[in-house]
Amino acid sequence: MKSPANTAQSAQRQHWDPDRYRSEAGFVADLGMPVVELLDPKQGERILDLGCGEGRLTAKLVAMGCDVVGVDASPDQIARAKAEGLDAHVADGEALSFEGEFDAVFSNAALHWMKQPAAVIDGVRRALKAGGRFVGEMGGHGNVQHIKSAVEAALSRRGHDPATYDPWYFPTPEAYEALLAAAGFEVSSIELIPRPTPLPGDIEGWLATFAESYLNCLDPEERLVAISEVRDELRAQLLNSEGVWVADYVRLRFHAWLRSG
Ligand code: BEZ
Repeated sequence: MKSPANTAQSAQRQHWDPDRYRSEAGFVADLGMPVVELLDPKQGERILDLGCGEGRLTAKLVAMGCDVVGVDASPDQIARAKAEGLDAHVADGEALSFEGEFDAVFSNAALHWMKQPAAVIDGVRRALKAGGRFVGEMGGHGNVQHIKSAVEAALSRRGHDPATYDPWYFPTPEAYEALLAAAGFEVSSIELIPRPTPLPGDIEGWLATFAESYLNCLDPEERLVAISEVRDELRAQLLNSEGVWVADYVRLRFHAWLRSG
């Protein structure tokens, strides 16, 4: 394998531009309502929105009468959330520092970026009051598999080991349930949900928005060529007859209670 020009750590940097996110990824919050419904928030509940991004679902929970704190690793996204008047903070989801103050922890489309799930779940456990709930949705086993395989092939062709740069964690329900149970949660539901997702634009926009840290080991010129190869390879699998790109999303949705005592 080629020795990478960037270290794995610097290559893994993913940066979130709130404007690009809104245009390329507005569907993430639009499609997040089923997990809000699973959360079933009650007026006055104190809720932590883990990986809140620019806060669209955080704002929905506030509008439902909840007292919501949003946290996200991206300073740009948090700046946008604060500008919307939300109580939002930059924080590392793998090192949460809250202690026993939330009725529920909610997370949509964020946990798959956190590659130390046991540390995340431990922080969630500490953040919850006794008997609190953890309700979330993330990429699950098999998520964006066509896209992932095409990116892996493009990196391998250039002598890079894709596993070094893979920024995503897409667990099976069994694996995630075992982690939740080990941390003292009772899992009331957990399921994989295939959700082919029409994209608002070209697959190149998706790759630029979501696979930035995967492709950062390539220099800018090489990256453009690689993206074009990935696009060509995915055309047969993901571009439908109406000319719409449809990403092969698979969600892992769960609801778990923290056992008291
Ligand atoms: C997802 O929401 O499943 C996802 C987002 C970015 C990259 C990969 C998957």
